Amino acid sequence: MKRVRKAVFPVAGLGTRFLPATKAIPKEMLTVVDRPVIQYVVDEAREAGIEHFIFVTGRNKGVIEDHFDIQFELNHTLAERGKDEQLSKLGALQPKAGQTSFTRQQEPLGLGHAVWCARDLVGDEPFALLLPDMITLPDQGCMKDMVSLYNETGGSIIAVEECDPAEAHKYGIIGRGEDAGTGFEITGMVEKPKPGTAPSNLYINGRYILQPEIFSILESQEKGAGNEIQLTDGMLKLQQEQSFYGYHYRGRTFDCGSPEGFIEANVAFALQRTDINHGIAGVIRDLLDELGPEAKRAVG
Ligand code: UTP
Repeated sequence: MKRVRKAVFPVAGLGTRFLPATKAIPKEMLTVVDRPVIQYVVDEAREAGIEHFIFVTGRNKGVIEDHFDIQFELNHTLAERGKDEQLSKLGALQPKAGQTSFTRQQEPLGLGHAVWCARDLVGDEPFALLLPDMITLPDQGCMKDMVSLYNETGGSIIAVEECDPAEAHKYGIIGRGEDAGTGFEITGMVEKPKPGTAPSNLYINGRYILQPEIFSILESQEKGAGNEIQLTDGMLKLQQEQSFYGYHYRGRTFDCGSPEGFIEANVAFALQRTDINHGIAGVIRDLLDELGPEAKRAVG
């Protein structure tokens, strides 16, 4: 069985839910506490043993490539000023030479199309796919556990999390089958099921391990929901030929592609940080105390 060595990060979306913030800045470069969102996702992949990081980019996304490059002037200045701690922090996050690849999705035709754009860079091997606007807390571990499950079962793996059944129509939902290793068999998947028709309350949280046969399926994939080439449609076809397994992630995923999810992520990650959380927790408590009765009702 081939090892999972490569990860794909589709970063070519327009980020329309987050305009005007994303007019000139890619949403993946918005910061949660002090790191761009994309850094959390790359770190999660690295923690899982990924050796090669493939970014499918688009217009206005050049700054992502710069972020993963060495900034000589900055490093030089930090060294001169004796800022060794900051220098080593940057060094620890830096991919090694040859570990990153960038390709362009020239038009944002959908997630399925973005994944297909990585076909030559991935080649004939299983690969991890991480949606770069979804970050997980604890901030590492989801993909690592998925790789462990893959090593037990082979096939393709999808991570899922529980949602409120009343909200299932907003997500990609899977059907749960028999237990398999540390996961379970996936019996079906549906993108944004009509209310009351979802096969479970387990939603796809943006982490996948896929077999390379997905590329030939995506190549001829017609447009689906939202007039976009949908990854879920491609996976459904692949599932007719190969096994899919689910990994139930017990942490929490934040959708940083929406202002609400992004703010929730900032609060949650800041509260985890022992160097800053004391003051922040105090401000949150004070703000809640100062809220008028109407706003307090919204908080619940
Ligand atoms: P989203 O639908 O969340 O991203 O796609 P989006 O299209 O940027 O968001 P909105 O709805 O306009 O706000 C999930 C992931 O797939 C990537 C996005 O960058 C995001 O990380 N994507 C989506 C592409 O790379 N290309 C596409 O054509 C569509």
